[in-house]
Formats: sequence, structure tokens, C-alpha cells
Amino acid sequence: MTIDLISQDLESVITQKSNTALVVFSSVSDDKDKTPVLHNKSMAKQLETNLEEKSISGKAGETVLFRDFANGICRHLLVVGLGSLKDLTHESFRVCAAAVYDSAKALNAGETFVDFDSLAAKLKNVDNLQAFVEGLVLTSYEFNELKSKKDKKDKTSLSFHIALKEAKNVAYKNAFSEALSLADSVNFARFLGDMPGNLMTPTILADKAAEAGKEAKVKVTIWNKDRIRKEKMGGLLGVSMGSDQEPRLIIMEYNGAAKTKKPVAFVGKGLTFDTGGISIKPSAAMEEMKYDMCGGANVIATILAVAKLKLKVNVIGIIPSTENMPGPSATKPGDIHTARNGKTFEVNNTDAEGRLILSDALVYASEQQPEAIIDAATLTGAMVVALGNIHTGYFTRNEKLKKTIEEAAKASGEWVWNMPLCDFHVQDMKGTYADLSNMSSGKGAGSATAAAFLEQFVGEGIPWAHFDIAGTGWSVGNRLKYAPKKGASGAMVRTFVEIARSYAR
Ligand code: BES
Ligand code: MG
Ligand code: ZN
Repeated sequence: MTIDLISQDLESVITQKSNTALVVFSSVSDDKDKTPVLHNKSMAKQLETNLEEKSISGKAGETVLFRDFANGICRHLLVVGLGSLKDLTHESFRVCAAAVYDSAKALNAGETFVDFDSLAAKLKNVDNLQAFVEGLVLTSYEFNELKSKKDKKDKTSLSFHIALKEAKNVAYKNAFSEALSLADSVNFARFLGDMPGNLMTPTILADKAAEAGKEAKVKVTIWNKDRIRKEKMGGLLGVSMGSDQEPRLIIMEYNGAAKTKKPVAFVGKGLTFDTGGISIKPSAAMEEMKYDMCGGANVIATILAVAKLKLKVNVIGIIPSTENMPGPSATKPGDIHTARNGKTFEVNNTDAEGRLILSDALVYASEQQPEAIIDAATLTGAMVVALGNIHTGYFTRNEKLKKTIEEAAKASGEWVWNMPLCDFHVQDMKGTYADLSNMSSGKGAGSATAAAFLEQFVGEGIPWAHFDIAGTGWSVGNRLKYAPKKGASGAMVRTFVEIARSYAR
């Protein structure tokens, strides 16, 4: 797929001959009895009857295609709905872009011209342009690397031109390139997540991070098993013991601000395959556990995006990565390991492994004396039960950070939900033979007690938030129009970039 901004008059660039499509926007009129709004005035005249008959409604995501629309300008005309004018947000433009992409693909359009100029001044803003471009690039993501050539669809055949008089204006140009960087990073996170466990081992994940880091001018340091042992990361090491695959600790650093400025630390669970270990999972849907590294993938993508956007902030990404396998040397229920900060824990269920590998990573993050620590993990099935797959639940006891997160999510257009975390949850994680147990002694609140366990490894006074993306890390068919029906979603990359941006101010 290619995409660009053009400032020329559409009529002068569109040719009737080739398989071109012109996209114009429609929306639902605020006044119920009124006909839908067609934003392109000359087209509105030509489509008057269609509007009156309401065969164009303007509803969000609606597409009405006029094939071989002989009006002297374009070959095909595509009318896309934005929804009700009074409820329009930048998310409406992402959803609308998904509809445009899908229609252009179905039409096999050679070139698609999008009439952004027809929008009213208050809609033709940089945020909506950015969202529209993000929507196109996010929708274009397909995971078909591993299909034999015959089945591979050509990804690059579609070409979009967004017509905008302000195309040369810096603010619009920046919004456009920002959208590309962000959506490309999200798509990279999706790719890492979609790769199967055999082709995305901890070693491969680390290599991919190093390779991408080099391109984005991000410093990447990788610790192997010996180094992880030397660094006293007993949680990460303990989980890795059942596997032939070596664990890795991936550290990514980008300095966009003065060296003296504290970094914002992002920590992500990079469990490349979670069988449950000795406390093995049931077979049904176990293949989904290849996504158990999505927190890590999304943190990798966040650091890359922050670097590509050249945000004036220092960030560090820390991704503990391992497989969780049963095996002759695997951690057994009841085993006790020691984390990097000296705290000991009983492993009463080897399937509660995410919190163990994150413990060391959070201690290491705290040692960097960061301004804040943000972590992402597909941590608990309980999170899926609580919130499903729309909202990402997050836990923090820091009111200021909570406000930052809410604002960041509003700006990114992702959905988050604040979850409770209190001392009762901490009490439930006390161990019998060690300081802590990786299993709660109470019933219920499994996501909160997991968060309480993590909290034990965050340095005193450091603002910290934990995002449990177990429900949102991958799509299951009913989620977003611009995310694959099934596959890694890249959830929270955009929000994390906004969080990083808030520290750049
Ligand atoms: N990776 C899983 C959590 C998970 C479950 C993510 C379903 C996405 C979908 C995690 O390692 C896990 O197994 N957690 C256990 C913890 C329990 C044993 C306390 C769980 O949630 O069942
Ligand atoms: Mg598990
Ligand atoms: Zn897991």
C-alpha cells in the first residue's frame, strides 16, 4: 500500500480511464428529519435523489459504491459514512478509513482519491487527518508471511491519495508522518505477536528488537542466560528452566532529552509461549498462548515509535522473555525462587509465570530511577472475564499517573479502565514458606492480586501503572474495524506513546 497527501484539485488529477475511485464523506444530519449530509457539494447535487431516498444514510462505517459513475470526474464513487455530526471524534475517522480501505480492496481500485477538502473546517483538522491515515495503515495490516507464495495477496497494490489544500502546511504534514510512524510501529508489534512460538522464540524476539532498534537509532542491549543468572534474576530464570530455549532480557534505550533527565520505563511481558509449565494448561485454545509476548512486543513498538517521532523524552524499554514449558528441569509447584531485589516467592502454580518474569524486570526498571514505570502484560485470564476485549484494565495507586493515563488514552483513542488495587490484595499474596506466593490465598480479583504481586518489585515512591492486556492483546473477531479479525492487536502502543509524550512537556 502507498499513501500520500496531495494539494491539487481533485478534478485535475483523477482520470476516468484507469480503475480510480473517489471517496467522499457523508454524515447523519443532526436534525432527524433532514436528509443526510454529503460533504462534497457538487456530488451532493448529483446524488440528490439518493440522499432524499436515504439510500445514503451517513451512518458510521457505511459505504455506498457507485460503480462507473459517469460524472466526468471519477470512474467509481465511494460514499463513506462518518456517523452523526454531533458525536464525531477522531475515532470516527479511523473507523471510516477502515471502511475506505476494505472497499478499495474489494474494488481492486488502482488509485483511490479521498476528498478531505470537502469536510467542514472544524472537521478538517490535524487530529482527524492523523486518525484517518492511522486507520488506513492499521487496516492494511495482514499476516500472511507464512503462507506459500500462491496464497499470498499483494499487499502493495493499493494506493491512496488524500486531497487536502493544506497538504504543504507543516502541522498537517507532521500529523501525516506521525500517523505513518505510529501505525507502522503498531503493525510491527502485531507482526511479532502473530508469529508462531517456534518462529518467535526469546532469541528471535531479541534479535528482531535489535534489528529494528538499529534502524530507529535505539540502543538495544540483550542479556543471555548467563548474564540473567549473574544479574540475580531468579524469576525470569526460574520460569525458563523447563525450556530448551534460552531466556533473554531485552533493554531498549532512546534519549530524546538531556542525559540528566530521568527516563520513563516501559516493561513488557515477553513470554513467547505459555504452556502453563508443570501446572499445564488445557489443550483447547492453547495455541493462543503464542500471544503471551504481546506486552513485550507492544513495549518494543512503543520505544521504536517514540524514537521515530523524536519525542523529547528519555525512555527505556525492558522486556523479559522466555518460554514457559514443562520439562525435567522445570520449576515445580512449591519451588521457591529469589527475585533480583532479594524477595523470595513460592511458585504454587507454574502457570502464574508472567508476574515472576516481570518481578526482576520491575526491579531493574526501578534501579534506573525512572520518572514512572508503565508495564504491559497478558497477565491474567481474570482480566478477560472482567472486561472482555474492548477495555484494557490498568492498575495504579498514583492519582497523577492515573490522570496522565486517562488523558493519553483519550488522545490515542484506545479504551482503558481503571481497576482497584489495595492492601487487601497485597495481603492475599503473602507466602507460607517464602515472602510471597505467586497464587492468591483468596478467591476472585485475580487480576488485582496479580497486580499486587507486581507492586512488591516496584521501588518505593516510583509512580507505577500496570496494564493487563490479556483481553485486548489480540482480536477475536468482534473488536475494531481497523484491527485484524483474529490476531495480535498492538493494543496500548498508541496510548503508551501518548504517555511518553506527556513526559516530554
Ligand atoms: N498468559 C496467561 C494469562 C492469559 C490467559 C492471557 C488467557 C490471555 C488469555 C497467564 O500466564 C496465566 O496463565 N495466568 C493464570 C494465573 C493463575 C494461575 C493465577 C490465569 O489467569 O489463569
Ligand atoms: Mg501462564
Ligand atoms: Zn502467561
